[in-house]
Amino acid sequence: MSLNGSAELVIVANRLPVDRMTEPSGATEWRVSPGGLVTALEPIMRANEGLWVGWPGGTDVDLEPFEHDGMTLDPIALSADEIEQFYEGFSNGTIWPLYHDLVAKPEFHREWWDSYVDVNRRFAERAAERAAKNATVWVQDYQLQLVPRLLRELRPDLRIGFFLHIPFPPAELFQQLPWRRQILEGLLGADLVGFQLPGGAANFVRLVRQRVGHKTHRDLVYLPDDRTVRAESFPISIDYKGFEELARSDSVQKRAATIRKALGSPKTLFLGIDRLDYTKGIYARLRAFSELLRDGELDVDDAVFVQVATPSREKVEEYRVLRDETDRLVGRINGDLGRIGRPAISYLHSSYPREEMAALYRAADVMVVTPYRDGMNLVAKEYVACRYDGDGALVLSEFAGSAAELRQAWQVNPYDLNGMKAALLDAARAEPRERQRRMRAMRKTVEKADVAAWATAFLDELDEARPPHGKKLKPTPGS
Ligand code: G6P
Repeated sequence: MSLNGSAELVIVANRLPVDRMTEPSGATEWRVSPGGLVTALEPIMRANEGLWVGWPGGTDVDLEPFEHDGMTLDPIALSADEIEQFYEGFSNGTIWPLYHDLVAKPEFHREWWDSYVDVNRRFAERAAERAAKNATVWVQDYQLQLVPRLLRELRPDLRIGFFLHIPFPPAELFQQLPWRRQILEGLLGADLVGFQLPGGAANFVRLVRQRVGHKTHRDLVYLPDDRTVRAESFPISIDYKGFEELARSDSVQKRAATIRKALGSPKTLFLGIDRLDYTKGIYARLRAFSELLRDGELDVDDAVFVQVATPSREKVEEYRVLRDETDRLVGRINGDLGRIGRPAISYLHSSYPREEMAALYRAADVMVVTPYRDGMNLVAKEYVACRYDGDGALVLSEFAGSAAELRQAWQVNPYDLNGMKAALLDAARAEPRERQRRMRAMRKTVEKADVAAWATAFLDELDEARPPHGKKLKPTPGS
């Protein structure tokens, strides 16, 4: 496909797979975007010479389409107002907290909604321009829930899929949204609406029946124009083989050993890796750990907690507050409980490349993933993929989507501090045989249901949801 030609597969996501960063010197460089979306979609995109429509990061960055890693990227510019109202506002100040169980209070502002509608329309128009006849367009995530309908109005020939990467809330919460009907109708523009868990799909179908009044049967919605929309769950995953290979590489092994040494060769290394987000339960897990030190169950001479918090949405007030609170808590714990050369918590507010993550996963004895609510949580799956020796323990919140698959983790309720303390200790003290038994089972699960299987399952189902149609897409290599 030429840079301005039309494509058989179009991904529409808020972010492009790469993010344009401006250095203090004014120089710009491209970095892999935050979140798990990119690794999930890259293989299927390469196989189909796909086109990716998205925001390149930054304000008013108006760029021509360009090639990247076997894909064509088509950037959409966002103005400062749109970043404030569409991205920070409606997407991350309204929908994000509302869909994550109200862990923070959502704000409802009419100007934010207007901006959300405008930006969604722009994304839909661009996709409509670039998709070939009868092409497949796959729209991603909560920032673009109106795109399926807007796109269908412009291009009824297209096969349209939508996948929500975050939880879809129960009706009792969704109902608060003043624009609930428009969002539901926006999503119904798709032929297939995908969710992480069956519960999300069921919430959606129930809401469509109650609020929009369409007939439904199980996972099907019957629209008056004779179209049907299917709502189903497709738990997203990771590039299992890629992570395992990386973890086995010499450089990662060496780096893992260096990390352990730099931390004073502790007996137990606990690890958390998250975007710095209030849904992730970072504060609670650090408190649980610090109480174990205070209780004398753990000792800073042989236990350390490494917490990597990747900077995220730093202009949104809730995220600023969270950063300050986390800084303060870490400072207090280290001040109270650390010794010279032995901080209790090694806290890194930074993002790292995949190699460094793999080395951290290799170095960690106990991986701690304790969100209050999370669509899936790929960090948990990445950890499992990197433990090719079968060792290592995973402490996992029952409110992460991945808990449905990773049954053998030490599952916890992140609101229950004592329960979390007990699980951290159990995981750290478990016999190697017990850890191995659990890890082996989880590895099998993730190996089978990797990201290629996820993308193939979604696209196959989309094919069935709307036959007969244009050319069939090429499967992801290895699936
Ligand atoms: C989550 C969302 C993604 C989002 C990512 C990073 O994984 O599901 O849609 O891209 O977080 O957040 P950001 O606001 O930086 O794009």
